[in-house]
Formats: sequence, C-alpha cells, structure tokens
Amino acid sequence: MRGPRAASLRPLSLLSLVVALLPGTRAQGSAGLLQCFRVGSQRNLNCSWEPLPDSRNPIVLHFQSRKYHSNRTQTVAVPAGQSWGTIARKKFTEADHLLVWGTQGGRPLWTPVLVDLETRVKPDTPHLLPGGVDFSEDAPLEATVQWQPPEWPSKPLICQFYYQRCLEQGWSLLEPEVKTVPLSPVEMQELELTSAYKVRGRCRVETKGDLWSEWSQALHFQTPPAAPKDVWIAGNPCMTPGSPAALLVWKAPGPCVQVSYQVWFWAGEKMQMQEEVPCCSWPIPAWARWARVSAKDGVPWVPSTNLSLFCLAADSAPQNVVVSSIAGTPGLLVSWQQGTQEPWEYVVAWALDGKALEDVSWTRISLGNHSAVLLGNFTRGVPYHISVTAVFPEGLAPAPSVWGFGEELAPVAGPAVWRLPDDPLGTPAVAWGELSKHQLRGHLSHYTWCARSGSRASVCVNVSSSTRKVTLPELPWGPCKLWVMAATIAGQGPPGPSLQFHLPGNTLSWGVLPRILCPWALFLLVCCLGLATSGRCLHLRHKVLPRWVLEKVPDPANSHSGHPHIEQVLQPQPQPQAPGDVPILEVEEIEPMPLIEPPQASTPVHSGYEKHFMPTLEELSLLGPPSPHVLA
Ligand SMILES: *[C@@H]1O[C@H](CO)[C@@H](O)[C@H](O)[C@H]1NC(C)=O
Ligand SMILES: *[C@@H]1O[C@H](CO)[C@@H](O)[C@H](O)[C@H]1NC(C)=O
Ligand SMILES: *[C@@H]1O[C@H](CO)[C@@H](O)[C@H](O)[C@H]1NC(C)=O
Ligand SMILES: *[C@@H]1O[C@H](CO)[C@@H](O)[C@H](O)[C@H]1NC(C)=O
Ligand SMILES: *[C@@H]1O[C@H](CO)[C@@H](O)[C@H](O)[C@H]1NC(C)=O
Ligand SMILES: *[C@@H]1O[C@H](CO)[C@@H](O)[C@H](O)[C@H]1NC(C)=O
Repeated sequence: MRGPRAASLRPLSLLSLVVALLPGTRAQGSAGLLQCFRVGSQRNLNCSWEPLPDSRNPIVLHFQSRKYHSNRTQTVAVPAGQSWGTIARKKFTEADHLLVWGTQGGRPLWTPVLVDLETRVKPDTPHLLPGGVDFSEDAPLEATVQWQPPEWPSKPLICQFYYQRCLEQGWSLLEPEVKTVPLSPVEMQELELTSAYKVRGRCRVETKGDLWSEWSQALHFQTPPAAPKDVWIAGNPCMTPGSPAALLVWKAPGPCVQVSYQVWFWAGEKMQMQEEVPCCSWPIPAWARWARVSAKDGVPWVPSTNLSLFCLAADSAPQNVVVSSIAGTPGLLVSWQQGTQEPWEYVVAWALDGKALEDVSWTRISLGNHSAVLLGNFTRGVPYHISVTAVFPEGLAPAPSVWGFGEELAPVAGPAVWRLPDDPLGTPAVAWGELSKHQLRGHLSHYTWCARSGSRASVCVNVSSSTRKVTLPELPWGPCKLWVMAATIAGQGPPGPSLQFHLPGNTLSWGVLPRILCPWALFLLVCCLGLATSGRCLHLRHKVLPRWVLEKVPDPANSHSGHPHIEQVLQPQPQPQAPGDVPILEVEEIEPMPLIEPPQASTPVHSGYEKHFMPTLEELSLLGPPSPHVLA
C-alpha cells in the first residue's frame, strides 16, 4: 500500500499527492462524492457515496489518522452493493482528523477526503416538550415552547425552528435561530386564536458546522379559543308561539380545533347557562330575550357578543327584498329597502330548502348598503330560503323570507292535470297541481296548457302563473288529450302527465235536452192521460208545441181562471201588439177550444197559482176573443 509519506504535508498538498499516487482515481464528480460525517448515538463515522455502476465488486474504505500513527492505514470492507460504510468509533480518536478514501478491486475511487471528527458531525435531533407551550396573558397571543437540545454532540449548537399553521402548506422559519448555550426557549409571536400549529426544529454544530440534524418530531398545539364573534339565529327569531324553535348559531372555528362553548340566555332576572355546548348551535328557549355565547377557556380579551332577541315592529324590517341570480356566477344578488328606521346592520341569511335549521349561512352587511352579493356555493336550480334582518340595538326586525335560485333552470316536471265538473254543462274544466320548488328549479313564470283532439294538431295556450284552473270551450268533439307545462325564465319544462277524455258530439243537445225534455214529456203524459177521454189531445198537441210550454206554463187553462189578473196585465200593454204577433193559424184552432171551460171547474182556486204561471202576452192575445168580453 502506497500511502502518502510526509505527515508534515499540509492537507491540500497531501490530497494532490494521493491523487497523483493513485492513477486510477476518477475525476471528481464523475462517480459522485465521498462524504463522511459522524452520526447517531454510537458516534461512528459514516461515509456514503452515490451508487456505483459496478455493484458486484466490494468496496474497501481506507483511512489514516492525521494526528496519530499517521503511517498506519486501516481499512473497512463494505458489503457489495451498499453505498455507505461505517468506520466504528473505536477505530479512531476523538478530535482527530482522518484522511479517507476508497478502492474497488484495488482500483481507487473518488478523491480522498479529510474529515475533521469535531465538526463533521450531524447532531441528534432536538426535542420539543409536549405540553411545554405557554401562552401570553394579553393580546397579541404569543407562545413559549420549551425544548431540549440534542443529546450529542455536547458542544454549542445552533438550532432553527419552523412552524406551520393549520391548513397552511409549507413551513415558516421562526426568527431568530436559538443557541443551546445558553439554552433559550422557542418563542412564537402573533399567533391566531382558536387555531392549531405545528412546530419542529433541527440543530447543527455552531462552529464550522454545515450538517443539520434530522428534523425533530413536530409538536402540535392548539391556541386558546376566542368567543365567537358572529352569532346569529337560524329559523325565524320572531316566530309565533308554537312554531318550531329557533337556534342560536355561530361560525365554526375551522377544522383544526375543537372548542366547547358556554351559552347564556336571559330575560330580566331569569337566566339559563349551558356548559359544554358543542359547535355550533343551541336551541333558543321561547322566553329568552338575550343570548350570549363564549368559548370554554377562552381568552379574556375577546368579549362575547350579546344578541338581543326582541322582535321589533314589522315596519322596521327591510322592505321589498328581491333576489336575483348573477349571470355567469353561482352567486346571488339580494337587495332591499330600509324600513322606517335605520338599523345597526343587516344580516342576510340563506339556507338550502329542506336542510336542517343549523345549516344556515349568513353574512353581515354594514350600514348604508342595501344589497349583498352572496358568494356561497349555490347549486344551480336548487331553491334557497333567503332572509334579510335589520339588527337594532334594541332588537331584530326580519323581513319575510324569499326564494332564490343559484341559477334558474327550466322545470324538470310538468303539473298533474285532473278534470273538474263541466262549467257550464258541456264545457270541460280542468285544474292542475302545483310543482314543488325543487321541480320548478326557478321562479314560475307561466303555465302552458295544450290540448289535442283526435288527430288534429295540438293547441297550446299560455296562462299566468297564478292560474291553476281553466275551462275549455270550443273543443271539437271526440277524444281529447290535455297536458300542462310549467315555465321559468330559463325555459319551459316537460309536459306533465296527460289527461285523456272524450267529448260528446253535440254538447248542447246532450247536455241540455234531458232537462228540457223531461218536464215536457211528463206534461204530455199527464195531459194525454187527463184528456184522453175527451179527445182533446190532438188539439192540445197543436197548441202546446212551442213557446209557452218551454216557459213552463203547465196548463194555460189555469191562467184564464183569474180575470182580474188578465186585466192588470193587459192594461199597460198596447192593444195593437196582439194581432201582429199572433200566429193566426193557431188562434183559429184555439178559439173553439173548450179548454177555457175546465177552469170553471177549478174556479175555486184563485190563489197564487196564476202568479207563478202567468200567460204571456201572446197567449193572452190568442185568447183574444174572450178578452174584449172580459174588458167590457
Ligand atoms: C450512513 O449513511 C447512509 C446515507 O446517508 C445511510 O443510508 C446509512 O443508513 C447510514 N448508516 C448508518 C449506520 O447510520
Ligand atoms: C513512518 O514511516 C517512516 C518511513 O516509512 C518512518 O521513517 C517513520 O518513523 C514512521 N513514523 C511513525 C510514527 O511510525
Ligand atoms: C352582555 O350582557 C351582559 C348582561 O346584560 C352584560 O353584563 C355585558 O356587559 C354585555 N356584554 C356586551 C359585550 O355588551
Ligand atoms: C357596499 O358594499 C360594497 C361591496 O361589499 C362596498 O364596496 C361598498 O363600499 C359598500 N358601501 C357602503 C356604503 O358601505
Ligand atoms: C358546493 O356544493 C356541492 C354540492 O352541494 C359540493 O359537492 C361541493 O363540494 C361544494 N363546493 C364547495 C367549494 O363548497
Ligand atoms: C308562451 O310564452 C312563451 C314565453 O313568453 C312564448 O315563447 C311562447 O311562444 C308562448 N306560447 C304561446 C302558445 O303563446
């Protein structure tokens, strides 16, 4: 073995000498560097290199002490394929300098390196003490973290600590770096309340050290909570007795911390305090007039908010609340007008229809603004309840809640149609049901009903959104199919289930005739039966056929029985009318009619009968001949 000869040579010249003496040494960098440093609890020297292409031949590490036995070269065999080798602590002396190189199959590898055993040290990791975090008593929040320096080396070290706030990516350096002699605690400033942090550290030898220890285990801690600032009410705070209870709600502190709360309700002398309330709602007792929420073990310098639950007159509430969607964004624009008084602030709350009461979102709108852009995650075509409440020092004035849709879509269904009794008889009438807000997916703008008769083209008619019932005159007879569609501003929905029915051919005759024919047939029957013996039926048939029968005069003979009435009727009427109007043929026939006689039999009946069945003028004039006689 041809080691360097002159112990007195300075390291650099020594190195060049070694390089010169080892002709096969690869150029620096081509096979990667040989690195040696002391590491771990055994304080051994670990030398490592980049994996070599020839991994079958074992590598031998050579080293010489620069301070003692400088002529002696020791070797360490490295198992084939391993890219590091360990020089055991017992093979060298503390505070020595070692010259290290390596060979593979007798061929030198790498440039030899000179290792200062004092400074080529990768320290153990520092240790952050669990539970060793103390917080400041005042704002701003600061923390002092207790820690222990690495066990080795026992010489002055410099350590750095990094922190990461909950949900943040990456680590931030805590300035300044701290020394182990004298040992100072880790200080963190301007921490966020109700949050969570992680801290970790690493150390290196103070002088000439460039090897950092591994990272310490991260210490996790949670900062003290603050009372929730944004406290609101889910449900209508100004409800009538008996309606479902409203909830006190507040904003969750974020996913990294768990906070337990205390809730107070009071009204005058009466007070109720609830401890260990989980995040983030609690039912409001009906009697409560004030409410307050604080965090358990919260910092003293954040006061809890008092919320007045008094309800003010409706005219203080925001007026004319309008919700509109904003084209191209999922947001909603809500606008309103001020009520009679100017409030402290407005709260705009929104909740997905059908969700639990506590799933409410809200935003506070400072004074002077009468509109808000809600940038929530509004799902398209889904209805949201939106309410605007004016908040006064003395109470609340909520406006009635309105509906909003993240983006209006066309309905997904059509209304179901059913038939109503004809109105009037022979004219079909139909009504349809309402669609739910989820089916409508927007504000209903109008309905369209369509009818198709037989094979004709369908006929559609738009009707207003408030119409839910129509009559269908002038439908052709035969089979008919009818359906209704709903529309929003986004378009028309599909047809609802259709209604099929059959319209009789002549609606008028089918509908009305029975009514007319029945009494008439009855009358005929009675008449014929009554007069069959006297053979008057023939005459009667001629006489009765058209008009006065239709006017439901059952027996013209009766009208004749009361002479005084005839006078009364005749007097105001101009006489000449009679001849003009009269179908003379019939007069001829009636004149000889003995029909006038039977009344004599019924003369005793003088009472109201005639009033109801008064003969018409024509009839009277038909009875012309007797009249002059009467008048005379
Ligand atoms: C020596 O260092 C190498 C590379 O850093 C590592 O893989 C190996 O585990 C270390 N050996 C010991 C005994 O620490
Ligand atoms: C080192 O070797 C040289 C010659 O090979 C010799 O002169 C010298 O005395 C040796 N030194 C020690 C400390 O053994
Ligand atoms: C809240 O109300 C309580 C009781 O009336 C009162 O003592 C406290 O000062 C109020 N706090 C605030 C911040 O108004
Ligand atoms: C109203 O709100 C908008 C947006 O939030 C804001 O830019 C504006 O300054 C507000 N106006 C008043 C008077 O507060
Ligand atoms: C928005 O809402 C949808 C459906 O409710 C949900 O899948 C999505 O994760 C939400 N996005 C955000 C950013 O909250
Ligand atoms: C109904 O109204 C819509 C929208 O105004 C219109 O597009 C459609 O043509 C109307 N249909 C009929 C039958 O009037």
